[in-house]
Amino acid sequence: EPIRDLAGKRVLVTAGPTQETIDPVRFFTNHSSGKMGYALAEAAARRGADVTLVSGPTQLTAPRSVKRVDIASAQDMLDQVLARYEEQDIVIKAAAVADYRPVQTFDSKMKKKDGNLSIELERTTDILQTLGQRKQHQYLVGFAAETDNAIEYGKGKLERKRLDAICVNTVGKADSGFQSDTNEVIYLNKEGKEQHLPTETKKQIAHRILDEILEDMEADRK
Ligand code: PMT
Repeated sequence: EPIRDLAGKRVLVTAGPTQETIDPVRFFTNHSSGKMGYALAEAAARRGADVTLVSGPTQLTAPRSVKRVDIASAQDMLDQVLARYEEQDIVIKAAAVADYRPVQTFDSKMKKKDGNLSIELERTTDILQTLGQRKQHQYLVGFAAETDNAIEYGKGKLERKRLDAICVNTVGKADSGFQSDTNEVIYLNKEGKEQHLPTETKKQIAHRILDEILEDMEADRK
């Protein structure tokens, strides 16, 4: 049994992909399995936290002690996270949220026609940025999936979105990022810490990330 060092803390984790509706049978989505977010929720719960998991559609089962809130679109996720933001101590955004959604959604199935089809997309609201702007006491941690210039882009997102820390995820390798059971991240915080967390199972990485967050929160208090 791990040490219950998150007892008394409220932790909200987001996980999985979003689905952006085109018509009743079609949507845009991405390859997130939810594994990283579910591992974080489970690890935090085992360490005594009161955990809420806001999850896109996945094949995974959340631990019974975790409050799971199911969502589909980026807008649903924004609404459900904002509704619970104020009471949280720690918020970790491991979900892969759509940057764009169709401008128009159709109530009946789109019919096939001759020639090409274009679907116009519009930007979704950036959840992490919204949380950064409205941050009070919460420790806000983002994820960034990067294929190259990982640290540089990660630092940019950390500053622009007013985060406390960001886990830069190296994607494009078989043993990390989307869908794999293992992951490798670089944990960056606003004080300039740059902690490499080498490849381990997502469950182990989840505990390492929580260790870093707790260390930072203690340092902030001093
Ligand atoms: O689910 P798994 O299969 O286990 O895979 C885990 C993961 C790779 C999905 C996860 O570890 C991860 O890196 N999640 C973030 C993926 C991502 O969308 O990164 P990004 O660099 O495109 O976006 C940066 C941040 O902005 C993300 O925290 C994202 O959730 C957030 N964002 C993006 C769009 C939007 N509308 N609102 C947001 O908050």
